[in-house]
Amino acid sequence: MSDSDKGESKINKDSLGYIVFMAVAVCLVCSIIVSTAAVALKPQQQINKALDIKQNILRAAGLLPEDSNKSPDGRSIDDLFSQFEVLAVELDTGKVLSDYAVADYDPIKAARDPALSRNLTGDEDVAVLGRRENVSLVYLLANEAGQTEKVVIPVRGYGLWGTLYGYLALSGDASSTLGLGFYDQKETPGLGGEVVNPKWKAQWAGVKVYDESGTPSVALVKSRSASGSPAAEYEVDALSGATLTTRGVENLVNFWTGELGFGPYLNKLRTSS
Ligand SMILES: Cc1cc2nc3c(=O)[nH]c(=O)nc-3n(C[C@H](O)[C@H](O)[C@H](O)COP(=O)(O)O)c2cc1C
Repeated sequence: MSDSDKGESKINKDSLGYIVFMAVAVCLVCSIIVSTAAVALKPQQQINKALDIKQNILRAAGLLPEDSNKSPDGRSIDDLFSQFEVLAVELDTGKVLSDYAVADYDPIKAARDPALSRNLTGDEDVAVLGRRENVSLVYLLANEAGQTEKVVIPVRGYGLWGTLYGYLALSGDASSTLGLGFYDQKETPGLGGEVVNPKWKAQWAGVKVYDESGTPSVALVKSRSASGSPAAEYEVDALSGATLTTRGVENLVNFWTGELGFGPYLNKLRTSS
């Protein structure tokens, strides 16, 4: 048999059918590998997501350094987080819902479900959320005497390029902030992205939240009021060159501490202390 006869009996690798077959086969194999990896890695992704949430709550509350995932005294994230009591709160009333499956509850997911959330009208929706969940979570840290020392609430709102997701830590009487941190945001690094700069974040320790009438009054300003003046107590420096992100952060803080956010719940802490 000549070489050309041998070639004819084999598959013609230059034929259109062969090329299409190989392309489909390669796509199929790749998609099986990617799908298998996605399914296999899902549990680990969920563990990492839960760990990330805990780290962000701990960071906002000042229990974890900005630049490390380890506590200075070597305690694990789970150990530190176990100090918090997690409560489900009905936002409209501020009522704590006992026996709620808080470990499985995702307020952001709930906000997408019309049965578990409410629509926000244009005037109400200063944080540009569209919908707001009916129930959310609060994280309470008590001191040795059993008094609430820190309250951490999840917050979110629109900046310039997208929604910023984070946690706001408040004093036990909910009168002032202890820290604010965002774990997910799309603002421009160096401009709006400075929301994650530890130096800017440091200003959030001790900002007064409510004015005399109980209205959330945190203000992000380009030039601060005279130090020691009443207005200065509510102020945080604006992000330079990022007016829209700045406005978004101010709006989201005042939204989530207000009547349509955790206001009814936080009001109980303020009046009971
Ligand atoms: C490439 C680019 C990225 C920007 N990113 C942001 C941003 O992340 N946040 C923001 O508020 N403004 C951002 N801006 C600026 C806004 O478009 C707008 O000019 C600014 O908010 C005005 O702020 P100023 O009054 O402090 O200058 C960006 C502009 C450009 C050109």
